[in-house]
Amino acid sequence: MSLLITGGTGYIGSHTVVELLKSAKDEEIVIVDNLTNSSTKVLERIEKITNKTVTFIKADICDTSALEKIFNQHKIEAVIHFAGLKAVGESNEIPLAYYQNNVSGTLTLLEVMARHQVKNLVFSSSATVYGNNISPLNETMATSATNPYGQTKLMVENILFDLAKSDEAWSIACLRYFNPIGAHQSGLIGENPNGIPNNLLPYVAQVAVGRLAQLQVFGDDYDTSDGTGVRDYIHVVDLAQGHVKALESLAHAKGTVKGCQAINLGTGNGTSVLEIVNTFKEISKQAIPFQVVPRRAGDLATVYADASLAKELLGWQAKLGLTAMIQDTWRWQSENPNGF
Ligand code: NAD
Ligand code: WQD
Repeated sequence: MSLLITGGTGYIGSHTVVELLKSAKDEEIVIVDNLTNSSTKVLERIEKITNKTVTFIKADICDTSALEKIFNQHKIEAVIHFAGLKAVGESNEIPLAYYQNNVSGTLTLLEVMARHQVKNLVFSSSATVYGNNISPLNETMATSATNPYGQTKLMVENILFDLAKSDEAWSIACLRYFNPIGAHQSGLIGENPNGIPNNLLPYVAQVAVGRLAQLQVFGDDYDTSDGTGVRDYIHVVDLAQGHVKALESLAHAKGTVKGCQAINLGTGNGTSVLEIVNTFKEISKQAIPFQVVPRRAGDLATVYADASLAKELLGWQAKLGLTAMIQDTWRWQSENPNGF
């Protein structure tokens, strides 16, 4: 049997493939990725870490015939669907590309899965679907979106809820990630953004390594302990293990996830921008110059998860703390200053 991992050469996908290979019985791992935001170099690194091989297919999830071929050639029993565009700012500039890639691409994938009777799915959703709700955020809260990227996640979630209602054979975990950071402990794989990073951690890491001059801290007048934004950062390896647990909970395995179920993957703890900067400075022993600038449009003061449902349904909780997250980010960044 095979597991299909869309977007498996990306940041979260590659770490999940490593954890799957570590836990896998005899399943073949088939990665499909169009390489718009990743490199095949990650495949050698995955094989170096695990001593196992993966099957890689360069294809686009919007390409029905390419997907048909994959499902005809491999006995896929479940899919983890990471493939998508993820930059909030860019999604305001090119919304059609986001709707096409993230929504239309997912519909194409779901149609092919349905035709082949493959109805076990883990989907990469995001805490962004909680809109402006007050933290801690839990899965019963009303969802909304404030930008095209967030809309695509919400639209796909709604499609998945409808699909599961229409046919009880579907078993779907919509994993709502909080802020994934960190890298594999080996220093061989990590986040590799194209151009100037949008997210805090890759930006801080590139300042520490000397690629960028200084960090801009977006606002220090929030109602938080030090005035800067608070987020629920989660180690990408914990997140990856959450996917292994989610897969094991679908109908083809334990079956604790029934129909379509939204599940937070977060730690339940909040950390401010300045706490991140200070911890990074201590661990890397590098200067991290920063300047406080006005708030970034759309940012909330505080976002963190109620992480109890994942524990209850998946038997999963995050284990790694901020020190490990930042040590591993720094190892990856300093050993690979220019990425892959
Ligand atoms: P990433 O960009 O590193 O990985 C996504 C992968 O999908 C890339 O390798 C890219 O080449 C591939 N891809 C994109 N469009 C494709 C297409 N049409 N066909 C085939 N491959 C395609 O991003 P990531 O951080 O690993 O995120 C993975 C998923 O998790 C995304 O769906 C993202 O929206 C979601 N997510 C990410 C975060 C985060 O902060 N990183 C938070 C919440 C949710
Ligand atoms: C974190 C904190 C910023 C950059 C985004 C998406 C979300 C999800 C995760 C995909 C905030 C501050 C940041 C900088 C800063 N992605 N910051 N200077 O905004 O919580 O979430 O990524 O689903 O949908 O919106 O993450 O890393 O951008 O910001 O001061 O240069 O760091 O204001 O408080 P965010 P982030």
